[in-house]
Amino acid sequence: MSTLGMAPSVADTDTARQAFTPIRPGHLIDKVNGKAPKVLILGGGPAGLVSAYELQKGGYKVEILEARSRPGGRVRTARKGVTETDLDGETQTCDFSPGHFYNVGATRIPQHHITVDYCRELGVELLAFGNQNADSLVYYDGDTPLNNSPVTYRQAKADTYGYVSELLTKAMNNGALDRELSKDDKDALSEFLSRFGDLSALGAYKGSSRAGYVGASPGAGLDYGEQRTPGALSDVIQSGIGRNLSFEFGHDQAMMMFSPVGGMDRIYYRMAEAIGANHIKYGAEVTGFSTGDNSSKPWATYTRNGQEEKVEADYIICALPPHLVLRLDTDLPKDLTTALKEAKPFSSGKLGIEYSRRWWEEDQRIYGGASNTDLAIEQIMYPYDHYNSDRGVVVAYYNNGDNHREFEKLTHKERLNKAVDLGKKIHGDEYGKNISSSFSGCFMKTRYSEGAWVDWEGGSHSHNESDAYKKALKPVGRMYFAGDHLSNSIAWQQGALESGRAAVTAIHDRVTA
Ligand code: FAD
Ligand code: ALA
Repeated sequence: MSTLGMAPSVADTDTARQAFTPIRPGHLIDKVNGKAPKVLILGGGPAGLVSAYELQKGGYKVEILEARSRPGGRVRTARKGVTETDLDGETQTCDFSPGHFYNVGATRIPQHHITVDYCRELGVELLAFGNQNADSLVYYDGDTPLNNSPVTYRQAKADTYGYVSELLTKAMNNGALDRELSKDDKDALSEFLSRFGDLSALGAYKGSSRAGYVGASPGAGLDYGEQRTPGALSDVIQSGIGRNLSFEFGHDQAMMMFSPVGGMDRIYYRMAEAIGANHIKYGAEVTGFSTGDNSSKPWATYTRNGQEEKVEADYIICALPPHLVLRLDTDLPKDLTTALKEAKPFSSGKLGIEYSRRWWEEDQRIYGGASNTDLAIEQIMYPYDHYNSDRGVVVAYYNNGDNHREFEKLTHKERLNKAVDLGKKIHGDEYGKNISSSFSGCFMKTRYSEGAWVDWEGGSHSHNESDAYKKALKPVGRMYFAGDHLSNSIAWQQGALESGRAAVTAIHDRVTA
């Protein structure tokens, strides 16, 4: 492409740097001083793989050391034949029917994430992922008639928005907002609230067809359906049925959301294929490294097939989980290892149940999305694929922190039993029938993860600015770091991919400086 004038040349390094937009092929220089630098990459999760994939586009030599026998790290999909032995020694082998699966780790992609662009570039087809569903359910413990039994999202939404709109309209009409609002403001707000809450002409919430119908929806002729009566104002407020409605406002949780056909891990199998099997060593467990400096090259040691090996490179990208780096034999400076200790692993996991009947669709008309609860299971997620077929995999829990720890200590069978007992409260006895198999993932007990993600002390998934975080972002010698933990999209592939791209950019800038 350089020869054709379609990409910058070696000599034109400033332009090369500016034009370095790795997701598009052919933009990098393909050699520096006639010799392609070698970059060794530790870890074949999204961050490590994308680093190799983008470096290769520019002609860098790459080698990935990955401890597992597959690409993708925490992007794991459970399908027939997948086997995992947890750190406590329990082995599960997934026995879902062919074609059926669930994503044990990453499962949804918002449309603004770069993950979508990699899917496009790699030819990974996407399906819409229902992150909200008006007919899925909320179930919360409590003392009102709206507690301890399921309520549809559409009812929770209609009643909550309806009453909040009514209250605000009343407050406004009673003059409580006269200092804040002009007459024109009040007219405009009144009109908005009337639509938002589906209010009567007098500004009251009297129920709404938005809440749905008892039994069937309206039909032909004189069949008007029986509109659901709203809960009482105080019950709606005290029951907390509206507590999860804000979830869908999240920058990263708003529809449209997507997920790959066949499972999230398809992205990284495709990426690994594009990188080439001869550039990835699976079963290679890194045991230590030296970061190198101006006069010495960096290297890493690893074990593979019982053999100790050592490999040298011009640069290293370390894309391993930070808490696992701390266990390796390294020459990292003390201030960095101290900083990495502030990245605390977080507990989360899921359990998938394959049913031989799609009762949630047939009986309850729930097509995708999730039901939410304050029970320890936190949510039940319905499959985004194989709609209207004869079977499917429901995620019986996807829970976090203390709620997951309740399941973490159990055997797989015990997790299943507990999940079914709790799920029955939401879906009734049907929840315990037609179960053909199940598989659970618990990230704290998963070798080479030992955590679902990390939280930096004093930070959040989308905003990290502690000194420890900033320290961990910096390269040491000839070693660069990557991973979702080094981004402001922790617990998202986006974070890992952007972080890998940042490491590649930094190396490329240095090489071409
Ligand atoms: P990892 O994926 O952890 O990769 C690190 C790699 O290093 C692994 O392959 C591991 O095997 C390897 N490794 C570890 N130790 C060694 C060693 N000693 N030697 C060699 N290799 C080693 N993201 C989304 O986009 N959408 C979601 O819906 C979503 N949901 C999630 C739900 C859960 C429960 C979890 C756990 C994650 C979720 N994520 C989601 C986040 C996403 O999975 C991560 O952001 C992403 O996997 C991070 O990539 P990484 O390369 O930084 O780390
Ligand atoms: N990003 C992860 C999710 O959406 C945590 O579930």
